[in-house]
Amino acid sequence: MTEVRAAGVAAVIVLAAGASTRMKSGTSKLLHPVGGRSMLSWALDAAVSLQPDRLVVVVGQMRDQVEAHLDDIAPSAVRAFQASPLGTGHAVQCGLEALGEVSGEIVVTYGDVPLLSSRALGDLLASHRDEGNAVTVLTAVVEDPTGYGRVIRQGDQVQAIVEHRDASDEQLGLREINGGIYVFEAEILRAGLAQLRTDNDQGQLYLTDLVAYARGLGRRVGAFIEADVWQTQGVNDRVQLAAVNRELNRRIVREWMVRGVTVIDPATTWIERDVALAADVELWPGTILRGATTVGEGAVIGPDSRLTDVEVGPRAQVVRSEAVLALIGPGAQVGPFSYLRPGTELGQAGKIGAFVETKQARIGAGSKVPHLTYCGDAVIGESSNIGAGVIFANYDGASKSLSTVGSHSFVGSDTVLVAPVSVGDDAFVAAGSVITDDVPSGALAVARGRQAEIPGWVAQRRRRQAGASGPDRDGAAPSTGSNL
Ligand code: UD1
Ligand code: CA
Repeated sequence: MTEVRAAGVAAVIVLAAGASTRMKSGTSKLLHPVGGRSMLSWALDAAVSLQPDRLVVVVGQMRDQVEAHLDDIAPSAVRAFQASPLGTGHAVQCGLEALGEVSGEIVVTYGDVPLLSSRALGDLLASHRDEGNAVTVLTAVVEDPTGYGRVIRQGDQVQAIVEHRDASDEQLGLREINGGIYVFEAEILRAGLAQLRTDNDQGQLYLTDLVAYARGLGRRVGAFIEADVWQTQGVNDRVQLAAVNRELNRRIVREWMVRGVTVIDPATTWIERDVALAADVELWPGTILRGATTVGEGAVIGPDSRLTDVEVGPRAQVVRSEAVLALIGPGAQVGPFSYLRPGTELGQAGKIGAFVETKQARIGAGSKVPHLTYCGDAVIGESSNIGAGVIFANYDGASKSLSTVGSHSFVGSDTVLVAPVSVGDDAFVAAGSVITDDVPSGALAVARGRQAEIPGWVAQRRRRQAGASGPDRDGAAPSTGSNL
């Protein structure tokens, strides 16, 4: 992306007060994610790239949610409040009031146009400056202009913007639409907003009427046509939300391929914005990489795996698994069907295998937990082997405790380690043990009922059964029970 070419603007006003009725959601539209980030955070990132002296966000509907989110992502942004959505012109008025005295360039953007880039905003601003405009509108030429305001041109200038519902049949045929993003000279904006009227089909104060206002004063109004129409795509409902997400993902996946990542099936591979991948990573179909996930060189992920905030080391392999806030070491193997919960750290060349669940578990280099295990609140040293079906029983019904297994140790299949308990280095736990006491280094622990054999028992039983006279009187089958 090209950088903004000149010094910053006086202010950016981000409109985020409208009612998001068509989303039919208990969550503000602006908080719905696109590529793993809220729509509002995309809008603010683009706004900030213009280096505004001040950034104002106009909030209104679902204000509490939006402001709480702003506390997280943009605590220094000025908030303006629009009590009821009386139109885009009114919203900008509210934003201007919050700014107080201001002169220079004011950029207006929307909170619900997530693909708008800093590149497009920079280009808009550059053309505003180059042409010496009082107002410059970001426009796009689209296949289907339904619902958008139409750009009425006069030569290279914009004469007016007419809303779809207010447009004549002839105007409806125009395919250049108003993207809703503008640069204004502060004085024109202030004066123009003051004289807005509600004589339109919606009875609202339209920001778009400022175009005709500026022209009436003999000032220049230009348009910057953005060729990438996705950048002006607003999100009003969940169909558009999905479309924008799909398009963003297509772009992100493509970018990673260009940078040397193999993606077997781009259509079923989802990579969020903040993910980082090294060269020669291989992603199989159905892979979803979320949050701050990073994947090292030559690692292979998928098919059908979802990693959220996971660090995967070089050459590691993850097959059909779910992992959250976990660390997978270089050359380690995970899956198929593993569930790595927060606090899992798998060392170099370690293994977490099929039907294994881990949580707060540090598994050292070369150690293996290959089959059917629950491993919670555990520290395992290096090159140890945890047998099939071992359970780290970390919860006594009230609190959780830690268990440790040293290095080069072997925990036999179907063992229960009842936390807190520790198994030393070079130790051995016999299969089927229930370990409640610490096992010293180098020891063998056996904690189960001893096996007994009764020679000839089966034949004795058969003789007993044959001696009984057929079925019991009540018709039940002969008892096979024994008193063992
Ligand atoms: C607006 C433009 C239209 C343009 C389109 C581009 C006007 C009159 N029309 O129409 O020309 O083609 O955007 O997407 O400006 N908002 C507020 N307070 C309000 C009203 C809206 O904050 O009182 C915010 C909304 O949250 C939204 C943005 O302004 O982020 C646009 O509002 P919306 O109602 O979607 O405008 P459109 O009818 O789409
Ligand atoms: Ca809209």
